Amino acid sequence: MADSKARKLAAGNWKMNGVKASLSEATTLAEMFPTPTVGILLCPPATLIAPMAAALSGSKIRVGGQDCHAKPSGAHTGDISAAALVDAGADYVILGHSERRADHGETDHMVAEKTLAAFMAGLSPIVCVGETLEQREAGETLDVIRHQLAGSLPNASDLDTLVIAYEPVWAIGTGKVPTLEQIAEVHDDMRTTLIARFGDGATSIPLLYGGSVKPSNAAEIFATSNVDGALVGGASLKAADFSGIVTALQNA
Ligand code: PGA
Repeated sequence: MADSKARKLAAGNWKMNGVKASLSEATTLAEMFPTPTVGILLCPPATLIAPMAAALSGSKIRVGGQDCHAKPSGAHTGDISAAALVDAGADYVILGHSERRADHGETDHMVAEKTLAAFMAGLSPIVCVGETLEQREAGETLDVIRHQLAGSLPNASDLDTLVIAYEPVWAIGTGKVPTLEQIAEVHDDMRTTLIARFGDGATSIPLLYGGSVKPSNAAEIFATSNVDGALVGGASLKAADFSGIVTALQNA
């Protein structure tokens, strides 16, 4: 890792969006925040990691991947190792995003193995958890999140580099956001759960909220208990949008 993990983090997940021409959004963002007081991270598609890292070299903005394989190398066509992400210039990797869990059948156990691989390669893993609408309506949210945290984090977790993102599946890309009380309930419970398992060192693990975060709702979300930043999809693609979220986090 280039430097230590930021306690407050505005992380952008570009998902399967962006080509070389989109790098101008990253460099524009870097120009807007030459000396940010919070961590700023962009996770573009794999093909853009190296060129984005090059375009942002000398800036304070970090680059990350959206997935890695659990194994360090080998016959795994189409996959990317954690070490290859580091080699391309990444400092972070998003793991266990609900779209990976849904589209690629990723289980908690697989996410835990990938998280261990990220630690070993020197990447900060951003491990994602979140309930479906059915689970929320059935009153299962806290149980689901506790279960996902238990299964998706290896015992040998490095508390100095681990980041957690709570992303309700029903809030991703939908414009629907939980109430601030619902966000606080989950984030407070995650903090308690992490401290119970890993000890007091878990008090400083950044807990990001994700799911339809916009410049217009970022400030109130960042003022919520145990919310240390955001994992942002759609609103991270344009510097004009993402900058509003970064500014809200700086002011929180
Ligand atoms: P969204 O996505 O901000 O577009 O809702 C968030 C995410 O999936 O990380």
